[in-house]
Amino acid sequence: MTANELRKKFIDFFVSKGHVQISGASVIPENDPTVLFTTAGMHPLVPYLLGQPHPAGQRLTDYQKCIRTGDIDSVGDPHHLTCFEMLGNWSLGDYFKQEMIPWSYEFLTKELGIPSEKLSVTVFAGEEGIPRDEESAAIWHRMGIPYDRIHFMPREDNWWGPAGETGPCGPDTEMFIDTGRPACGPDCKPGCHCGKYFEVWNDVLMGYQKTKEGKFVEMERKCIDTGMGIERTIAILQGKKSVYETEVMQPILKKIGELAGVTYGQDEKTDVSMRIIADHIRTSSFILGDQRGCTPSNVGQGYILRRLIRRAVRNGRHLGIAGTFLAQVAEVVVDLYGEPYPELLENKDKVYSELTKEEVKFSETLEKGEKQFDKMTFFLQKQGVTEIAGGSAFKLYDTYGFPIELTQELAAEKGFTVDVKGFEEAFAKHQELSRTADAGQFKSGLGDHSEQTTALHTATHMLQAALRRVLGPEVGQKGSNITPERLRFDFTYHEKMTAEQIKQVEDIVNEEIQKDLQVTVETLSPEQAVERGAMAFFSSKYGEQVTVYSIGDFSMEVCAGPHVTHTGDMGHFHILKEESSSAGVRRIKAVLEK
Ligand code: ALA
Repeated sequence: MTANELRKKFIDFFVSKGHVQISGASVIPENDPTVLFTTAGMHPLVPYLLGQPHPAGQRLTDYQKCIRTGDIDSVGDPHHLTCFEMLGNWSLGDYFKQEMIPWSYEFLTKELGIPSEKLSVTVFAGEEGIPRDEESAAIWHRMGIPYDRIHFMPREDNWWGPAGETGPCGPDTEMFIDTGRPACGPDCKPGCHCGKYFEVWNDVLMGYQKTKEGKFVEMERKCIDTGMGIERTIAILQGKKSVYETEVMQPILKKIGELAGVTYGQDEKTDVSMRIIADHIRTSSFILGDQRGCTPSNVGQGYILRRLIRRAVRNGRHLGIAGTFLAQVAEVVVDLYGEPYPELLENKDKVYSELTKEEVKFSETLEKGEKQFDKMTFFLQKQGVTEIAGGSAFKLYDTYGFPIELTQELAAEKGFTVDVKGFEEAFAKHQELSRTADAGQFKSGLGDHSEQTTALHTATHMLQAALRRVLGPEVGQKGSNITPERLRFDFTYHEKMTAEQIKQVEDIVNEEIQKDLQVTVETLSPEQAVERGAMAFFSSKYGEQVTVYSIGDFSMEVCAGPHVTHTGDMGHFHILKEESSSAGVRRIKAVLEK
């Protein structure tokens, strides 16, 4: 069965069970700043799982492009992908396990033709306050799965979600196919990673909501959320050992083979590079060609995209491909997926041009950077040093555009480690230097530290804290400039803020001002400051003490001051403008009105 056939079969099956097919969503989540990408079919449906009525009703089905980059370093082996399609169906407070489990059984055995005796399942073993799922076990048993193939498992195995930091979640029941391979030992059972059991589907019995405080509150209205990965499932149905052997990856690998003059499946080292390129360009095409697609940058989704592209470029060089080639690989991806994902077709020119742009940019420095890297490691080796210093890693980043992960990868290939903490310190120091430059500007314009500028300076700290609260930890200061009339604050963030977000930020700042918070200052070592949770930043010289300003419990930042002593008299905070400053950087201008 091909991917196209499976996609259709699944949707048709659930439509026949009274479901409405809805469109999948963007890979960039709209309502969840806690994660970078959509990781599951349920992710865009969170508000509806929590009770908001869905316009299409209570029974939904779709296919969803998902991105999971947690295992990015494992890509290259025959199994990992950073992007996959998930089939799913949902009950929004309608049916529950009594209907879902028999449907799962029917779909697997009748539609996919999997023999019942090859199936085994897991159910939740229960824990304090949450019952053991005897009910699901009994339903599976009634379907014909004997009890010795129904396994009760704890939370680590049989609890799913939430997708972000909070939201709907619950115990699940997972279905496995026995591949017929020998068991790895007497304890081998579904969930074991030896390759005998292959997870094909997950039915989440969504009955709980995880709160910000980390509590699991039972939902009044129970939901069903299921997920079946297309690539993995067709691989097993086709009897293939790897997703890379299926028709969704083979044409991409073939194209890479043509470009490099090699054939997939002949040499393991070559195959690893080919798989990395195939996976990364497939994922990059999905990100660039998305309805809310972003472009390569140094923050958030853009940074992941940059890493994927640069890693693909480097592996292309390993294969001996000369010149730009990524767009040609992406053309195959667009051909394969243009039909189920028309946005890829619509945005194909952007996909090709952005890939090539990033490729050219990185290729220019890649060779020089690698030379520099080789020189560096040669000398270190001579001295018997096996760690690359943070400063050197930062130079590779700053001068040659090497993401730290790339330096780590190169280092690992040669048996070196990287002082990542040192890298981060060097990075922060660099930011601090640009901030100092800004501060210089501040001083030259404002020798007097007037009352207005002092209050605006405090407001800048409060603005940053509020932005992080509303937009998430991606927000970081890029620059600041204050005149007696207004503040200007540049910060990292990947998209335009909505009117609502701007209002939220204003409200938070004004509420905190109203609380008449005390502003306190203390002197700490940089390490202490970081430990206490102060925002960023080391002084220019290591070992030096830094001053840390706290505004109540609301904000804590390393800073030279001056600030107001308490917030009550600052006035009313108002954002005049939110606009783009440069790629991946936003700019806010704001005032304090008396
Ligand atoms: N949301 C569930 C999963 O991703 C179905 O496995």
